[in-house]
Amino acid sequence: MEKTIIAFQDVVKQYEDTQDAVLKNVSFEIEEGKFYTLLGPSGCGKTTILRMIAGFTEATSGDIFFNGKRINDVPANKRPVNTVFQDYALFPHMNVFENVAFGLKIKKLPKKEIEKKVIDALKMVQLAGYEDREINEMSGGQRQRVAIARAIVNEPSVLLLDEPLSALDLKLRTDMQYELRELQQRLGITFIFVTHDQEEALAMSDVIFVMNKGKIVQSGTPVDIYDEPINHFVADFVGESNIVAGTMVEDYRVEFVGKSFECVDGGMRPNEPVEVVIRPEDLSITTPEKGKLVVKVDTQLFRGVHYEIICYDADGNEWMVHSTRKAKEGSKVGLSFEPEDIHVMRFNESEEDFDARLESYEE
Ligand SMILES: Nc1ncnc2c1ncn2[C@@H]1O[C@H](COP(=O)(O)OP(=O)(O)O)[C@@H](O)[C@H]1O
Ligand SMILES: [Mg+2]
Repeated sequence: MEKTIIAFQDVVKQYEDTQDAVLKNVSFEIEEGKFYTLLGPSGCGKTTILRMIAGFTEATSGDIFFNGKRINDVPANKRPVNTVFQDYALFPHMNVFENVAFGLKIKKLPKKEIEKKVIDALKMVQLAGYEDREINEMSGGQRQRVAIARAIVNEPSVLLLDEPLSALDLKLRTDMQYELRELQQRLGITFIFVTHDQEEALAMSDVIFVMNKGKIVQSGTPVDIYDEPINHFVADFVGESNIVAGTMVEDYRVEFVGKSFECVDGGMRPNEPVEVVIRPEDLSITTPEKGKLVVKVDTQLFRGVHYEIICYDADGNEWMVHSTRKAKEGSKVGLSFEPEDIHVMRFNESEEDFDARLESYEE
């Protein structure tokens, strides 16, 4: 059984000078030892959640638990968490050793012990031997590692990471994604990572919380979220999607673009209006006769591993196709896909609204 380490219950954050609450009745549980990601567009409340866990921001209402104990009133320095900030917040006038040792010195640990812990932490982030370097002699990626070493040296139960990779270039960023994931598994501590980058979230996490406008709209494994987006927002935000309006005629049968298709979803009202998602990589191009849909090729771009081909159907819906083969611009082609490639979603609503609506049908 996994143990719950952090829980939020109906947490609200309301600033006086803003009309809308920044967090709206947010509830979730974090299990020990896993890699969690808060994913959402800028301004959706990710940093606010981290700051509340760390104790830098107070909740307006609701409860925050750590190992089952309510911690709303526990000061930041008494919480077993550490934060890696976006801008690293290193001390520029101290060298690498001093930066990492800082927290331990404040705790007045014996000198020998500090030394051992700092060296271990630097080893962990592959910076052994860099103890005497000045911060301004380090590259962006190395500073990032110093910031991580400084956080893990305190042996926190939970490490909070607020967009720690966003200042790095693409190559380094990908390297650091692997490293962080590996480090989390090695240390076995709980990571709560914040990003607005969906690829990063999919690559690194055990569990993703997708956020929008102060709410968690969906939570699940990367595969759950990618394959079964709960609504338009998630489908659109996580990965490239083709989204069209449709009607769920009956279980396992959906209509869109004036045609009827077999699918694998059920459990909705007959003729419930829905949105249909098909991922670009699940579409393949065939002849108009063989295709389930007929579309006209508009433009294409080579993306390194595939062509990104934009087509339009007779209703004017756009269809993006990822294909390893080129198509001819202006030509009519068929699109083929399988029943399991069709993802049917109810209209844009959170898990709570969705459950409430489902209940209202059952009454
Ligand atoms: N001190 C503050 N006073 C008023 N509004 C704030 C304050 N801090 C953050 N906000 C607002 O709260 C919302 C969420 O911010 P934040 O949690 O930083 O979002 P994210 O990290 O997802 O980009 C934003 O609209 C932001 O402007
Ligand atoms: Mg933020």
